[in-house]
Amino acid sequence: MQCHKTILTMCFVMATVLPGSFGDLMKWNDTTYLEIPPLFHLDEWALCQRPKDVYCMVDAALISPKPSPLFDFLKEYSSNTQKHYNRTLVHRGVCISKCGAEGPETWRGAAERCLNNNLAQYGLEV
Ligand SMILES: *[C@@H]1O[C@H](CO)[C@@H](O)[C@H](O)[C@H]1NC(C)=O
Ligand SMILES: *[C@@H]1O[C@H](CO)[C@@H](O)[C@H](O)[C@H]1NC(C)=O
Repeated sequence: MQCHKTILTMCFVMATVLPGSFGDLMKWNDTTYLEIPPLFHLDEWALCQRPKDVYCMVDAALISPKPSPLFDFLKEYSSNTQKHYNRTLVHRGVCISKCGAEGPETWRGAAERCLNNNLAQYGLEV
């Protein structure tokens, strides 16, 4: 986990360029596309500018606390490494101070809480 403004900028560029490669996803049908966790998501940078705010770039591996057809599907889909991104990994820009980051030693836990809050709708965790 790294927290640097320069990496954030890089990630914005990547997030802008990469969606062109998502063609395969659409074959699943539009419903599937909406039901899987997005590969990338960036919290609004402008809303993370208070004096003690910390914005992190996070790469995280999804896990499933209980049997999950969605998670099985993501693993199977990702096993086609030639054509597909590893969708069991997610890439996020997160304003972790909103999840209780008090100091560097709490950043990892706060990042996990932020991601898990969002992933609860899919029954998944990181
Ligand atoms: C999309 O695919 C899912 C199964 O992956 C299926 O249950 C659903 O009915 C499909 N939706 C449409 C609109 O075809
Ligand atoms: C996808 O990423 C996870 C987590 O790093 C890894 O365990 C898994 O082997 C990867 N899957 C493929 C197909 O590379």
